[in-house]
Amino acid sequence: MSMRTTERVLHTRTSDSCTIVIFGATGDLTRRKLVPALYNLRREGLLHNNITILGFARRDWSDDYFRTLLFDEGNKHSRVTMAESMWHEFAQRISYIRSTFEDVEGYQALAQQLDDIDTHSGTAGNRLFYLATPPESYEDIIRNLGAAGLANSAQGGWTRIIVEKPFGHDLASALHLNNVLHEVFDERQIYRIDHYLGKETVQNLLVLRFANGIFEPLWNRRYIDHVQITVAEQIGVEGRGGYYEQAGAIRDMVQNHMMQLLSLTAMEPPVGGASADAVRDEKVKVLRAVRPIPAHEVNRHTVRGRYTAGPGTAPAYLNETGVQPDSTTETYVAMRFEIESWRWAGVPFFLRTGKRMPVRASEISVTFRSAPLMLFQDGPMSRSAPNELSIRIQPNEGVALRFNSKVPGQANDIRPVTMNFNYVDAFGGESPEAYERLLLDAMIGDSTLFTRSDEVETSWSLINPIIEGWQMLNSPIHEYVGGSWGPDASHEFIGASGRSWRRLS
Ligand code: BG6
Repeated sequence: MSMRTTERVLHTRTSDSCTIVIFGATGDLTRRKLVPALYNLRREGLLHNNITILGFARRDWSDDYFRTLLFDEGNKHSRVTMAESMWHEFAQRISYIRSTFEDVEGYQALAQQLDDIDTHSGTAGNRLFYLATPPESYEDIIRNLGAAGLANSAQGGWTRIIVEKPFGHDLASALHLNNVLHEVFDERQIYRIDHYLGKETVQNLLVLRFANGIFEPLWNRRYIDHVQITVAEQIGVEGRGGYYEQAGAIRDMVQNHMMQLLSLTAMEPPVGGASADAVRDEKVKVLRAVRPIPAHEVNRHTVRGRYTAGPGTAPAYLNETGVQPDSTTETYVAMRFEIESWRWAGVPFFLRTGKRMPVRASEISVTFRSAPLMLFQDGPMSRSAPNELSIRIQPNEGVALRFNSKVPGQANDIRPVTMNFNYVDAFGGESPEAYERLLLDAMIGDSTLFTRSDEVETSWSLINPIIEGWQMLNSPIHEYVGGSWGPDASHEFIGASGRSWRRLS
C-alpha cells in the first residue's frame, strides 16, 4: 500500500447506519443541498449502506413523486451529476410522510415507521432529525418529538437533531429556542448548523494557524495592525425579499457566518487537543472578549447600506419582490469590533458584507504592522505596502502573502509582490460541499463544526445592541449603486482610522 493510500484509509470516516428524518422536506434546502450532499457521500463510499431517509412535510406527495423531484432538482444543484443507476438504488431508501408539524398523530406515525425501519433495515435505532422548515415551526416539531418519545431511541441507538439557521431572530428568541431544545434534548444531541463552518477554507483557518509554527507567534497586537473580514456577494436577495426584510445583512450574514469567521481568526489555541468542546470553548471565550458596541454608539462603529438599481436589469432593493416601499432593511453592513484581550487590545477587526457587490469574494485579511525603520530612503518607498496575509474563503480558495520586493534594476525601487497558494493547483478542484462535511460529522457524532448554545447566545448578545441602536437612533441607510463596493460612508468609516478596504477581485 502506498503512503498516499495508507493516509487515506487512516483519515476516511464513514457514517453510522441511521434514519435521517427531514422536516420540511418539500422545501428548497432538501433538494438543493441535503439530498445532493447525501448522494455525494454515498458515491464516495462515506455513507453507511443502510442509511434511510424520511421526508416529513405538509404537502400531499407520494414516495415516487418525492423521489423523482429530488432526483430532477438535485441534479441541477449537485456538484457531480447524479447517475441514474446509483440514484435508483439510493432512492429505494427514501420515503415521504405527510403531516403538519403541529399534528401529534403525525409524530406517532413517524415513531411507528422509525421502529419498523429499525427492525427491517438495520438502522440500529440511530436517528438524525433535521429541521429544514421555517423557524416558526421549530418549537412545535421539537416539543412533538419529545411528546412522541422520540428524543431518545428505545433501541439504544443515538438520536441527534440538526437545527438550520436562522437560530433566533434576536437574543431573546435564541435563548427561548435553546430552552425549548434543552427541555427535550441534551446539548450533546443538538447540532446547530452554520454552513460556513463546513467550508474547506474555513476549516483550514485552524490548520493554518495551529499546524504551522510561523504564523502564531505573529498573531497578536505586537505585529498585527488590523484584520478585515469581507463577505461580498454579487447576487441580490433572489426572490427572498419577504425573509430578508425581517433579517437584513446583520442577521443574515453577520450574527452567524461572520462571527464564526471572527472567532476562528481570533481564538486562542484550544487546550488539550482539537475536541469539539476544546475548540468551542475558545471560540466562546474570544466572543466574550469582544467589546459590545453600546446602542447609543452604533453610528460610530457601524455603517448600513442598501443597493439601488445597478447596471443592466438588476432591480433596486426597494423594487425586489416582497420588500416594503418604506423598508428600513440594510443589504450592506460594515462594522468595527475591538477584542479586549492581551492578544488583541487595540487591533481593530473590520467586518463588511453586502449583496450586489461587484464580485463574489469572501476573505479574511490580516494586515501586519510596517517595518519599524525604512532603510531604503533613496528609492520610491511610497510603493511599498504593509505585509498582508489574506485567506480567501471563496471563490478561488487559497492563501496569499504580500511582501515588499526589490524591482530588478539599478535603482532601489520597491514594490509589493504576492506569494500565492491556491487549492485547485495544490489539490485539484474536488472539495466536498459544506453540507457533505456537516451531515457526515453529525452522523459520526462530531460537533466541532456546529455552534454550541453559549456560542450562539454570545454572538446574539453582541448583535442585539447594534440592532437596538439602529432603531433607537434611526440610523441612516446609505444607498450604494448595485454592483459597487458599498456606500461612500463605509469608505469614510474605515478611512477615519487611516486604513482602507482591501480591493478584491
Ligand atoms: C445564507 C444567507 O446563510 O448564506 C444567504 O441566508 C447568503 O443570504 C448565503 O446568500 C451565502 O452563502 P455562500 O455559501 O454562498 O457564501
